Amino acid sequence: MAEPKKLFIRTYGCQMNVYDSERMAEAMGTEGYVATDRPEDADMILLNTCHIREKAAEKVYSELGRLKPLKAANPHLKIGVTGCVAQAEGEEIMRRQPAVDMVVGPQSYHRLPAMARGAVAAEFDEDKFDHLPARARAARGPSAFLTVQEGCDKFCAFCVVPYTRGAEVSRPAGRVLAEARDLVARGVREITLLGQNVNAYHGAAPDGEWSLARLIRELAKNDGLARIRFTTSHPNDMSEDLIEAHGTEPKLMPYLHLPVQSGSDRILKAMNRKHTAEGYLRLIERLREARPDILISGDLIVGFPGETEADFESTMELVRRVHYGQCYSFRYSARPGTPAAEREPVPAEIADSRLQRLQALLAEQQRAAQEAMVGREVAVLFEKPGRQPGQMMGKSEHLHAVHVADAGIEAGQIAPVRITASARNSLAGEILR
Ligand code: SAH
Ligand code: SF4
Ligand code: F3S
Repeated sequence: MAEPKKLFIRTYGCQMNVYDSERMAEAMGTEGYVATDRPEDADMILLNTCHIREKAAEKVYSELGRLKPLKAANPHLKIGVTGCVAQAEGEEIMRRQPAVDMVVGPQSYHRLPAMARGAVAAEFDEDKFDHLPARARAARGPSAFLTVQEGCDKFCAFCVVPYTRGAEVSRPAGRVLAEARDLVARGVREITLLGQNVNAYHGAAPDGEWSLARLIRELAKNDGLARIRFTTSHPNDMSEDLIEAHGTEPKLMPYLHLPVQSGSDRILKAMNRKHTAEGYLRLIERLREARPDILISGDLIVGFPGETEADFESTMELVRRVHYGQCYSFRYSARPGTPAAEREPVPAEIADSRLQRLQALLAEQQRAAQEAMVGREVAVLFEKPGRQPGQMMGKSEHLHAVHVADAGIEAGQIAPVRITASARNSLAGEILR
């Protein structure tokens, strides 16, 4: 029998890309490709790319440069670029790096198998969700992503997502529930619902459109499913029923990623965010009323064009008031085609110094949130073995990584753990019997 063809996928960017990579691997599986983690063994290499910041996009070209010599060793090797750089730059990528055989944007992944066979040109206008084959029935880990909404209509002045992922589209509720049932049948116990603006979800259902809260309540009826999460949310779509669900739906985990971007109303306005710092803080208060122990996470940008020291200080003040359990922070990166790219930039040294001060404060808050767990009993969903023999790693309800030595427990099990110590990015504990 001939050796099966091998597929290597490298994934950059957000969880949506992680989900898409899985689906592409499954689609190529129906074409006889098996996954490999060694690019030098591959017959097809896909780089599933991210365009969000300049550094992310440039990484792709350096990686392509490194992969190019593999074509000399294997003349049948095909190299494809998928994801948001593919959408943003299109065929320009092939001009810049001729080793690339195909460029496929996120709306066209259902065409990938046909392209692999005969390389038809990709178009960037169809709904891939309707055409991708059902997930292959492979065994899988206990935690899975499930894309329910894609694209964005918000057009924040700094962001490429509305251009790379297109207009906001929600998948029909029935499809989501069916995919969830299939995942649970294969051992999944935790599902994270994904969307660039997941809380704007409004999927078609037989009795009208469902909100994200409604979808979560229906998903929760699946007895095999223990935990539900969702990401990423926009403050303006944080509806009353979704806030309430955090207090009433025990399977909805006490963790929310709610990016604010800045604490200065002047900058928020320039960013076209359409919310204020006070509005965001009130939202956090209401969430904490519904679920007092909810852990808040977020995204912040420093050095947005026009940001003064006073604007930056407002961001620091907002962070001091929120007490983030975890938060990402980025130096503003001008993206071609976005409105903010035309504006006068903040000098790099100033932006860097602000980012350092902000990150020091956020690291302190993360440390405090982790320290607060020491001594407490938390439920951990175990995912995989740790680095030491006998050690297992899992996630708490608050999404802290938890390591347990000599756990004697299997992946997929949920067990009570007493937290004994906090390390830089994880907690250690012992199972309570
Ligand atoms: N849809 C999500 C995530 C968007 S991208 C949301 O609206 O929250 C993830 C994060 O990248 C953003 O929240 C923002 O903080 C950051 N980001 C986006 N564009 C950026 C840019 N041009 N420069 C720096 N950071 C950026
Ligand atoms: Fe980008 Fe703003 Fe849409 Fe988020 S809400 S994806 S930051 S445009
Ligand atoms: Fe990047 Fe595209 Fe996600 S730009 S962050 S991979 S939506």
